[in-house]
Amino acid sequence: KIAVLAYSGGLDTSCCLKLLEDHYGYKVVSACVDVGQPEEELKEPEEKAKKLGVLEHYTIDAKEEFARDYIFRAIKANAMYEGYPLSTALARPLIALKIVELAKKIGAEAVAHGCTGKGNDQFRFETVIRIKAPELKIIAPIRDLNLTRKEEIEYAKQKGIPIPTESKSFSIDENLWGRSIEGGVLEDPMVEPPEEAFAWTKNPKECTEEEIVEIEFENGVPVAINGEKLEPVELIKKANEIAGRNGVGRIDIIEDRIIGLKSRETYECPGAVMLITAHKALEQLVLTRDELRFKEIVDSLYGELIYRGLWFDPLREDLDAFIDKTQERVTGKVKLKLYAGSLRVIGRESPYALYSESLVSFDDKELDQREIIGMVKYHGLQAALYEKVKNKLQK
Ligand code: ARG
Ligand code: SIN
Repeated sequence: KIAVLAYSGGLDTSCCLKLLEDHYGYKVVSACVDVGQPEEELKEPEEKAKKLGVLEHYTIDAKEEFARDYIFRAIKANAMYEGYPLSTALARPLIALKIVELAKKIGAEAVAHGCTGKGNDQFRFETVIRIKAPELKIIAPIRDLNLTRKEEIEYAKQKGIPIPTESKSFSIDENLWGRSIEGGVLEDPMVEPPEEAFAWTKNPKECTEEEIVEIEFENGVPVAINGEKLEPVELIKKANEIAGRNGVGRIDIIEDRIIGLKSRETYECPGAVMLITAHKALEQLVLTRDELRFKEIVDSLYGELIYRGLWFDPLREDLDAFIDKTQERVTGKVKLKLYAGSLRVIGRESPYALYSESLVSFDDKELDQREIIGMVKYHGLQAALYEKVKNKLQK
């Protein structure tokens, strides 16, 4: 019997690999889904998996799909959860989907993941597996055996699994949309994340010059940076690079996990922060006040669905229908100024702008100011009526 293991090469999943053989009696096929993590994060698992004796290792390229079908939707929805651009959360359903496809293809009996019973990822992986392939068994060795990190290290030593060094003592998850750093000293929420926790963003205090970027959108998705047309994957990489070198995108929050635990989370999501900021600025220019207000509710629901691993919920498709309709007009350019960890929108333009310079300008007569007198006079009418009756209230 074969189990397909979602394998990252890290400590958790390496222990899972050996446990699947020793404890559960499976032959293991490992798979690493490429959602835009750095090169070495794809080679390392392959080499390690082979050394640890898997039947076979697969690297599945899902970058393009991740960018087009997941990240671009997240941009259109300005998707955030409690200040987190959902980088890890957004990739989980796609990784699960690819693992399920592989398991079906090779006729595996089970799929396995390295999540603990404390986090969010167990929900995100397992809902997708149960939706797409209810016949597959799901095995979560770390959770099943209630293992601590200490116990994992002990087991790893016995099995000849390489132990992460002190400087790599964080639990890190990376993909095109960002980098999540957890664990170690970060578990004390009063301790500042040390500089070595970061890899994609320059230390803001070392940034000496400001940089201006121009981002072009078509129907709500970015298509060019500084006038250069780019395919989705390349565009997102470029956005990470530009914002990252200006120290933009470091995030340090207390987050409410699905099970209700509060956790201290550190992220660096330079591209996500920059692209969502620019996208929102363009929406302000082209959508009506009521559309913006309603979309804020839709956006926050959308972010929550992603966080909770409910990507395949019908509500997500319903919300997409509304969002896509609004994005018909979200075409144009946004100019941003980046400097030492900060970013500011400094310009925007669109053929669909609802902004009228002549109507709003103090130097123009197109709008006759006198026509507004009556409208102003009765503004707040109900408050004026209330002022008259409120002294009748019993104190
Ligand atoms: N708290 C984040 C989330 O729920 C990040 C999880 C990161 N995972 C990790 N293995 N470091 O999406
Ligand atoms: C885990 O606990 O397995 C990883 C982090 C998470 O799921 O939030």
